[in-house]
Amino acid sequence: MSGTEFEAGRLLEYVLFFAFAGVTLLTTRMYWRGSAGGIMPVSLAVLGVGLVFAAMWTPRTPTVPEQQTPEKTVEQGFVSSETCRACHPGQYESWYASYHRTMTQVASPESIMAPHENASMIGGSRRFDVRFDDEGAMIIDDVDPWPAFVKFRKNNGILPKDFPRKQGEVVMTTGSHHMQLYWVPLEDDGLTQMSWTWLIRDQRWVPGETVYLQPPSGGSGIAGTWTLNCIKCHSTGGQPRSELGSEPHPAADPWVGELGIACESCHGPGDEHVAANGNPARRYALHLSGEPDDTIINPMNLDSKLAAEACAACHAGRVDTSWDNNTGGKFRPGERIEGSMKLRKFELVPDHLKPDYFWGDGTSRVTGREFTGMSASACYTRGEITCASCHSMHDSDPNDQLARDRVGDEACLQCHPQYVGRISEHTNHVEDSPGSRCYNCHMPNTTYGILQLTRSHRIDIPTAAGTATTGRPNACNLCHLDQTLEWADTRIARWYDKPKAEFDEDGRTVPTGALWLLKGDAVDRATASWHLGWDPAIAASKANIQPPLLARGLADPYAAVRYLAERSLRKFSGYEDIEYDFVRPARVQAGAVQTVLAIGQAPENAPLDPLEEALIERLLRERDNSVRVIRE
Ligand code: HEC
Ligand code: HEC
Ligand code: HEC
Ligand code: HEC
Ligand code: HEC
Ligand code: HEC
Ligand code: HEC
Ligand code: HEC
Repeated sequence: MSGTEFEAGRLLEYVLFFAFAGVTLLTTRMYWRGSAGGIMPVSLAVLGVGLVFAAMWTPRTPTVPEQQTPEKTVEQGFVSSETCRACHPGQYESWYASYHRTMTQVASPESIMAPHENASMIGGSRRFDVRFDDEGAMIIDDVDPWPAFVKFRKNNGILPKDFPRKQGEVVMTTGSHHMQLYWVPLEDDGLTQMSWTWLIRDQRWVPGETVYLQPPSGGSGIAGTWTLNCIKCHSTGGQPRSELGSEPHPAADPWVGELGIACESCHGPGDEHVAANGNPARRYALHLSGEPDDTIINPMNLDSKLAAEACAACHAGRVDTSWDNNTGGKFRPGERIEGSMKLRKFELVPDHLKPDYFWGDGTSRVTGREFTGMSASACYTRGEITCASCHSMHDSDPNDQLARDRVGDEACLQCHPQYVGRISEHTNHVEDSPGSRCYNCHMPNTTYGILQLTRSHRIDIPTAAGTATTGRPNACNLCHLDQTLEWADTRIARWYDKPKAEFDEDGRTVPTGALWLLKGDAVDRATASWHLGWDPAIAASKANIQPPLLARGLADPYAAVRYLAERSLRKFSGYEDIEYDFVRPARVQAGAVQTVLAIGQAPENAPLDPLEEALIERLLRERDNSVRVIRE
């Protein structure tokens, strides 16, 4: 508990408290000894002590409600981060720097990350205008989002030119790390998401539907309702206060303990804790003894499963069965999650929807569902692994929030010390190779979300035979994209003394990079496109095999695949400045594909081991065109 310090304001209160207490003692003594003039000074001093004490006892009042954004409330015991700040400035500071805090913000010149300049964009068959008024407010002129969403889906991703429009002032933002969305209160629709999104790493506006992995007819990202959906994981103690059944147009006036993911999301409502610690005697006693404080949840003091479940409330595939459209969810940190939520397990999802959530082996395909992954690992079912085994919320880099001493192999070696000093012996790669890092083989990047691939949180064993039966790409071939499944299987069998598997012709002859990018479903194609530009995979694969494959990704029907293919392609020399924009639909991208293939003909760019054109054509013909919508 050494991190707990007291702020200057609190210190002043202490000084005043003890000063008044001293004066009271002194005057009382003087009174009894008859040296004081009368009762007056005593009562004054007592009154002073009382007043200061009362001031310290009362929790700080929450900040002022914001116009048209969800109103802050102290209902349900939430007292807000400002109240905690007074006694925990160190934790406040680390939280303040985190993306958790800035997940949902009131719109302001500080929170709006898009450039503060007027702009007009065309894309996704619509115009999108942004304007800033004299006071710095952001005004958006957009297609009327909800009707546009309906039309878009019906019309295979196309809106008529004269589609009705709406204007409004942005009052709230979502996201601050990879992308940012903007919310406008529209008369009949409550808080509505605007149809374009600001991509932070690319510093550009894009139509909202292009940031989700979905076919051109998918409408995710065009309109959204905050009050009955995003509020669940993007605020602290959200209460929609909406009539049941009114979705997607809730006439709601939501309350939140706080916007964003604040202290009480992970520590539980703080009113009791704050009231108890208003008593300076208790505060001192606790602080000095270092004893746990049973009026608040510290995930560090919970058993490993309960600690993970505090995070799972938002970082798991789950349905909140306790949800009430007026009062919100009932889950509180420190409780068993099954008490109020149903976890979305592989077995429970209908077969036709499984590929939108999971790989064939039951591993999550979707980011933000880290608990779903971790809880399926042997380290969890047979061990004590928890989110805090690798992450720290108060002592870490805000990007990924990995604990400072857990960014590499140490995270695993803390529980698997038998490999210390024997890494190469286990991995069969040289010690400092990316092929020797525990995370790379046991937590490969097979999770899709927010226009990137991220680490699977299911810790398991790479298997090429498994890829052949369940379709989930294995770690070896995600680096060795120029090799076949059978190639990897043979090495695994030899190195780890395992039986060899049988493969079909593609498994024996086609490099996995081509298999996944040309023949796979949309998630395979996204996974391959990302990995073809991943540095460790570039190091492991033969020179120049990537650009001709990525060229095909540029004309993929899914915008998200086109985006990832473009990003990877620009990493290769000769392709940095190609004319290309992933936002334009697949049907107009043939020219870009040809240009890129032509660059690949130059001797210095020619692949070391080119694929035959006939093979490429066949794989494209056999592509898995099933509709996939990754449910982020
Ligand atoms: C079940 C909980 C849950 C719900 C409901 C939810 N999200 Fe999220 N969201 C998450 C988590 C967890 C992450 C972080 C994912 C990660 O980093 O892998 C996230 C990340 C995001 C991001 C990226 C933020 C950034 O800084 O780049 C955006 C944008 C986003 N969500 C939008 C939405 C919108 C819009 C809604 C409502 C329509 C919504 N989410 C509903 C849990 C949720
Ligand atoms: C996303 C979850 C989360 C949020 C938000 C969060 N905490 Fe924590 N807090 C934790 C976890 C987990 C620990 C255990 C130690 C760690 O992970 O660094 C912790 C530990 C603490 C501790 C114990 C001392 C220590 O540093 O270990 C205090 C005090 C604390 N948090 C206060 C706060 C305050 C005040 C805020 C808001 C300003 C806050 N926390 C926001 C998760 C959170
Ligand atoms: C009036 C002062 C005060 C306020 C306000 C306050 N705390 Fe504390 N908190 C304490 C004291 C005292 C302790 C005992 C530990 C110490 O300081 O060494 C403590 C301990 C904690 C711990 C560690 C508990 C444990 O058993 O390990 C957490 C977590 C925590 N506080 C979170 C919060 C959060 C979240 C808020 C805001 C909702 C908050 N605190 C507001 C004084 C305060
Ligand atoms: C109330 C919902 C909620 C809770 C509880 C919560 N998170 Fe998050 N977390 C989110 C959302 C939403 C994001 C996306 C923020 C962003 O990236 O802008 C996120 C982002 C993260 C990130 C990625 C940070 C980055 O952007 O690089 C990590 C790591 C993380 N959370 C870990 C945890 C852990 C560990 C816990 C439990 C101690 C926890 N979270 C509790 C909702 C939550
Ligand atoms: C908190 C402790 C803990 C941490 C941290 C941890 N593990 Fe484990 N792990 C275990 C336990 C316990 C088992 C089960 C061992 C047994 O059954 O004998 C296990 C099992 C495994 C297995 C066997 C899986 C299987 O399906 O049979 C692998 C592989 C593994 N861990 C790798 C890792 C890697 C890689 C990391 C780091 C990314 C890691 N572990 C982090 C505790 C941990
Ligand atoms: C064995 C270590 C380990 C454990 C346990 C672990 N993580 Fe992670 N986590 C990582 C690593 C490594 C990354 C990725 C860092 C990178 O890619 O640079 C990561 C990334 C993340 C991200 C960011 C994903 C993104 O979209 O970029 C979130 C969110 C996250 N973890 C949440 C959690 C939660 C919640 C838990 C517990 C349910 C958890 N993690 C358990 C190691 C771990
Ligand atoms: C090149 C890929 C690769 C890398 C890198 C790798 N492993 Fe493994 N690991 C495997 C394979 C394959 C198996 C399965 C072996 C078997 O079934 O006998 C395995 C099995 C394991 C097991 C389960 C068997 C046991 O010993 O209990 C653990 C634990 C484990 N690895 C931990 C680690 C740790 C810790 C690291 C990082 C120091 C690491 N691995 C790095 C490929 C790798
Ligand atoms: C993170 C990327 C990565 C992963 C995962 C990985 N490797 Fe490697 N591998 C490399 C790199 C880079 C080299 C080149 C030499 C070096 O760094 O060790 C290499 C070299 C090799 C070699 C020797 C050179 C060759 O091409 O014949 C073999 C064999 C090999 N890896 C097999 C595997 C197998 C089998 C697995 C899975 C169990 C695996 N690798 C996992 C990156 C990886």
